[in-house]
Amino acid sequence: MNDLTRQDLLADPEDIGTNNSSNPSFDSVLQARLSRRSLLKGSFGFATTAFFGVGLSACGGSGDATAAAPATDNKTLKLNFNAVAKSVADALSVPAGYTATVLYRLGDPIAAGVPEYRNDGTDTGASFAQRAGDHHDGMQYFGLGADGKYSASGSDRGLLVMNHEAITPAYLHKDGVTIDGAPVSKYPSTITAAMTRTVVDEVIKEMNAHGVSVIEVARNGGTVSYKKDSSFNRRITTFTEMTLSGPAAKTAYMVTAYSPDGSKTRGTINNCANGYTPWGTYLTCEENWAGYFRRIAATDNPNRSAKELASFARYGVSGTGRELWATVVAADPADTSFARWNAMKTGASADGSDDFRNVANTYGWVVEIDPFNPSSTPKKRTALGRFAHEGAWPGPVVPGKPLVWYMGCDSRNEYIYKYVSNAAWDPADAGKGMAAGDKYLDDGKLYVAKFNADGSGQWIELKFGSNGITASNTAYAFADQADVLINTRLAADAAGATKMDRPEWGAVNPANGEVYMTLTNTNASSRPVGAVDAANPRFYNDPKGSAGTAQKGNPNGHIVRWAENNADVAATGFKWDVFLFGARSSADAANVNLSNLTAANDFSSPDGLWFSPSTGLLWIQTDDGAYTDATNCMMLAAVAGTVGDGAKKTINNVDGTTSKAVDTYVGAAPGETNLRRFLVGPKECEITGIAETPDGKALFVNIQHPGEDTAPTFSNPSSFGSHWPDGGNARPRSATIVITRTDGGTIGGGLA
Ligand code: FEO
Ligand code: CA
Ligand code: CA
Repeated sequence: MNDLTRQDLLADPEDIGTNNSSNPSFDSVLQARLSRRSLLKGSFGFATTAFFGVGLSACGGSGDATAAAPATDNKTLKLNFNAVAKSVADALSVPAGYTATVLYRLGDPIAAGVPEYRNDGTDTGASFAQRAGDHHDGMQYFGLGADGKYSASGSDRGLLVMNHEAITPAYLHKDGVTIDGAPVSKYPSTITAAMTRTVVDEVIKEMNAHGVSVIEVARNGGTVSYKKDSSFNRRITTFTEMTLSGPAAKTAYMVTAYSPDGSKTRGTINNCANGYTPWGTYLTCEENWAGYFRRIAATDNPNRSAKELASFARYGVSGTGRELWATVVAADPADTSFARWNAMKTGASADGSDDFRNVANTYGWVVEIDPFNPSSTPKKRTALGRFAHEGAWPGPVVPGKPLVWYMGCDSRNEYIYKYVSNAAWDPADAGKGMAAGDKYLDDGKLYVAKFNADGSGQWIELKFGSNGITASNTAYAFADQADVLINTRLAADAAGATKMDRPEWGAVNPANGEVYMTLTNTNASSRPVGAVDAANPRFYNDPKGSAGTAQKGNPNGHIVRWAENNADVAATGFKWDVFLFGARSSADAANVNLSNLTAANDFSSPDGLWFSPSTGLLWIQTDDGAYTDATNCMMLAAVAGTVGDGAKKTINNVDGTTSKAVDTYVGAAPGETNLRRFLVGPKECEITGIAETPDGKALFVNIQHPGEDTAPTFSNPSSFGSHWPDGGNARPRSATIVITRTDGGTIGGGLA
């Protein structure tokens, strides 16, 4: 979700930081600044790691901290395309020699008998239970064998699983969103507690347009298409029943009228990025869920405990509910489909079994889905903590070792986490579906990251009774481990985690196990110049457009990376540096354009991030509002280096009369050899979500919310913010595209 230009909501959820803890942005006590080289010595030489049990044998770790790229048999990883130019056109561009084809658009039917999408707002809300949802986001490809089971090498037939994060409400409905009886093409600038939604079908459509799609895709002679009537096709929506699993399940915190024993909840929401498991299941991650709930503080606060109020404040559960779903009145009084978005205490019970006062506790989780079993019930895995989950990215999968997932909480000044399973990976569990999830995802240790000024870092365990996470913690008195997992942000505050510039996607380098994470951007109010630190080291002004509108803070973002000590996924220490800094190529090279970006590779606000298991290339996708005077959002391909391949550098940050110099560690500048723009999207879109066939010859990418910023006049199609992908006078649609190389080769590059 674009955080700087999106105007159809009151404010983007990520803009509303709720971290009022006193945690320093880095440990100011640490003054020792060890030599970069000595810190990193001995950190490399990882064994080739395996994902899905498929080793990337062509890309062994180099064993040399100064190597720029993996090399095998005197071959190095190289990009194989010429950079695409920046563009503000309402079009999708890819390099010469590549073809991009639209595969799966908003509203496309996924069952026999469902008519083609009319795309004029007249398709019914109910029909969206069998149509593509809106705002395609995180995505994973699972090979499908002839036996109908997971096949790690299946490239000609597979299941593509993707999130539908949010909606562009105006284009879903004939004349816009009906509020207080009148259609509007934009939400009002202020949504009040008195406003109501009355058109039930609009709300059903919106609730169905969120969630997840599972679709079968097939490749025939180089053409990839989805199978409209596959028995694997499935939509998971805000209506789908979910099991609560792990330590916080079946506790008093989870009791609702829907599930008096706290064992289940209904639906998943704001599914942003994703993850996957080595046993062949999909992980969908609930990001900005808080804004969907209605909790009018003036009415509800007097009825709630001090702990409940502290939790609501830390997660931002206080408002009208952005889409006003809770205001719709169901025809059947027993139907709580809409009332369950009301998180206020309305019942008389002591435990919440007669209302939805606890419903917000049932959201904010990593949710496991078995795409190979269309009737399976998704499980919310509470051991991985509750926050604004961007995604959950697995680390190296090694038999006999614990499994690890890296996670970010995407809001200003939030944290980076990792989960380490207590069980060691047994390859015999591949294909065991949710039962394997019960083994690895319900029992483990949750950690939060602290980035030190000397280039080291610590993982601090979030465990009740340790690291300040106790009943005597002054900000929030923890009661038990379920309380810690439900209030993960508060536990991380107590543990002294480092506030980051909005963690988005993570990615693990298959060549060496190093972990990359985008820090998309932040603003001056969340991180004023005096709050820069080693891992979030820039404060600058990025003047936008011909008017030179000030954009202060870190509007262009950066990508941090780290290497676990001794290449051990369970390590409690790591070494870090900054892989890349987003910037205009024209920006000050000394303090802003620190990665020496050029016209061929400059970018802003990195969000999606993904290593191709087949080629080893790193793909970077943007969700930007800062550089959009010069270009629409984009995707770049990079040859990643290694932690410590650059140098220590002092950055001089200035805001008017205030300044702060800070030392950081800047990765080696990639140059145009190792970083090039591969794709530019249509107007007002975000590029997010990426997956490929195991042979690396078909790359799937999501184009999210083209045209979302402009309020349309429906009688005048030229007013639409975009017409992509259908063109003409069409309303814009989020869509999955598939990219192939016209010569049938791997996408983006390879060993050469
Ligand atoms: Fe949904 Fe953090 O992007
Ligand atoms: Ca984003
Ligand atoms: Ca994102």
